[in-house]
Amino acid sequence: MTGRLYVVGTGPGSPEQTTPEALAAIAASHVFFGYGPYLDRLVLRDDQRRVASDNREELARAKDALMTAASGEQVCVVSGGDPGVFAMAAAICEAIEAGPPAWRALEVTMVPGVTAMLAVSARAGAPLGHDFCAISLSDNLKPWTVIEERLRAVAGAGLVIALYNPISKARPWQLGTAFAILREVLPWTTPVIFGRAAGRPDENIRVVSLADADPATADMATCVIIGSPETRVIERPGLAPLVYSPRSIGAIK
Ligand SMILES: C[S@@+](CC[C@H](N)C(=O)[O-])C[C@H]1O[C@@H](n2cnc3c(N)ncnc32)[C@H](O)[C@@H]1O
Repeated sequence: MTGRLYVVGTGPGSPEQTTPEALAAIAASHVFFGYGPYLDRLVLRDDQRRVASDNREELARAKDALMTAASGEQVCVVSGGDPGVFAMAAAICEAIEAGPPAWRALEVTMVPGVTAMLAVSARAGAPLGHDFCAISLSDNLKPWTVIEERLRAVAGAGLVIALYNPISKARPWQLGTAFAILREVLPWTTPVIFGRAAGRPDENIRVVSLADADPATADMATCVIIGSPETRVIERPGLAPLVYSPRSIGAIK
């Protein structure tokens, strides 16, 4: 049998936010590679086998998955959210580029998913309604100096910023430093959304000003969205506020 590799994004955590295309790829696969907690979200049949690995072993996992697909298996590599956003799709491409020629002949299908910033944005209103970017605050794969330069550049350019991987036990100070840099560039009244576990039972969405943004309220399950100077908050009686970025600059006075 000819092997095949799917790289699937299962969405932010809620079964309703996994696409039918992702479910079809999962149903068609026999061997699943991924970080354990992501594999735990799948309901697998008896003929489907899982190979869990640590979330720092992405390249090794990609190579194992490619070797297994090259041996003729139907393989699925699983990411949370979208596999192309700070996840396995790029690791698979890196492994193919550096790997044996046979891996280039494999059929590889990337299956998109709802990424965290879209899930959080939908809960808060429309903070990504105008130009935006996504930055991973993890300095495991790039130097912190690059992250600082990028934060200053995009905040100065007026982009809304979605921060992934904001904080962890091994990276406790980076989010606080990021807020300090952003306070040098942006008005302190800029809305900041802490979107935790969007789409999951323990979801928590909070909106504060940049002045009040406290890094201690974020964890690894949080995507932090920092507005642009155009981003607005509509307060509503008895309801959560709506945060949005208008479609045109200077449209609302
Ligand atoms: C390694 S990145 C993976 C991103 C994933 N591929 C995606 O598209 O959402 C992990 C980071 O995504 C964010 N994240 C993932 N799931 C989330 C959720 N349900 N709610 C909020 N943020 C989430 C957090 O910032 C977390 O630290």
